[in-house]
Amino acid sequence: MTDAPTMTAAVIDRYGPPETIALRQVPIPAPAAGEIRVRVRAATANRTDTATLRGYPFFARAMTGLLQPKMAILGMDFAGEVDALGEAVTAFQPGDRVFGLLPFTYGAHAQYVCLPATGAVAPIPDTLPFDEAVVAEGAWYASSTTDRLNPGQRCLVYGASGAIGTAAVQLAKARGAEVTAVVGTRHLELAASLGADHVVNYETQDFTRLGQDFDLVFDAVGKSSWFACRPLIKPGGLFAATDLGPYWSNIWLGGWYSLTGSRRVSVPFPEDAPGFVRSLSALMAQGKFRGVFDRTYPLADIVEAFRYVEQGQKTGIVRIDIP
Ligand SMILES: NC(=O)c1ccc[n+]([C@@H]2O[C@H](COP(=O)([O-])OP(=O)(O)OC[C@H]3O[C@@H](n4cnc5c(N)ncnc54)[C@H](OP(=O)(O)O)[C@@H]3O)[C@@H](O)[C@H]2O)c1
Repeated sequence: MTDAPTMTAAVIDRYGPPETIALRQVPIPAPAAGEIRVRVRAATANRTDTATLRGYPFFARAMTGLLQPKMAILGMDFAGEVDALGEAVTAFQPGDRVFGLLPFTYGAHAQYVCLPATGAVAPIPDTLPFDEAVVAEGAWYASSTTDRLNPGQRCLVYGASGAIGTAAVQLAKARGAEVTAVVGTRHLELAASLGADHVVNYETQDFTRLGQDFDLVFDAVGKSSWFACRPLIKPGGLFAATDLGPYWSNIWLGGWYSLTGSRRVSVPFPEDAPGFVRSLSALMAQGKFRGVFDRTYPLADIVEAFRYVEQGQKTGIVRIDIP
């Protein structure tokens, strides 16, 4: 009898701090019918991974497991090459370079991961290396807000330097909106380089006094509130946020305004990950979207990567290099 081949993976068996993660040798997964197996070359450590590791917010455990996480390996973003096909898969070939998302199953913090061929996976544009293709997590969250924009509308992105904010600026521009990016001093040049029409420094200017000029105000870092941003929003405009807001205000205000008001509040949750990843692949191929990258950590240092991401100070995306 031969031993099953193994791979290196960052494994969790309970909710907790980054130190909960341990590198282990685990069996290489075999693709089931309709699945592909990807040899992962690059992944990310992101705010979804850190929230899932902590089991926070608690209600999210309805999806991730009440007392302990359902998934043994985190990692929502991946880029790599198809290395094996399950039965009846015709859309991919071994060797295809692909990137994508594993929104509910995770698993990219390992050398191999399996996912449905019909899942959130798309080709990496030819000229792009693997480590520049792990871009989907923040962009997917951003898209659920920016997809509401029409050409010519005005959008303000508060916190345009994180994974979601940097993506939001680019996706809003790709939809033909006029974009005002609000960032701190160290990110002024970055925001302009992403195509923002106007850049505001929140350290030197009170952005909430810019005037009632915006169809959409997006708090992309969960540090503002509808109460602060209300003076910016045109009648009939939208306030959207990545987080629940003070006292969960974004949730209950969203419910209230959906019943009554002209100024609406929303904490959108993205859908259709497969369709989104395919559209992102096309935008990258057209040069309309690029990842903004901060530090890269080897898989062996993944605990350090999670500690850094939890500080809430990264610029764009933190990568994990998979050996
Ligand atoms: N629960 C979930 O599953 C989930 C999943 C994804 C994201 N989220 C939420 O979405 C939010 C954004 O995620 P992300 O990955 O884009 O965040 P991120 O990358 O960690 O955001 C960090 C960036 O925000 C900037 N920032 C920090 N404080 C700020 C402030 N007061 N005003 C403006 N900018 C500030 C930082 O730069 P400076 O400090 O230099 O300005 C840094 O560049 C997070 O709050 C996260 O909780 C939740």
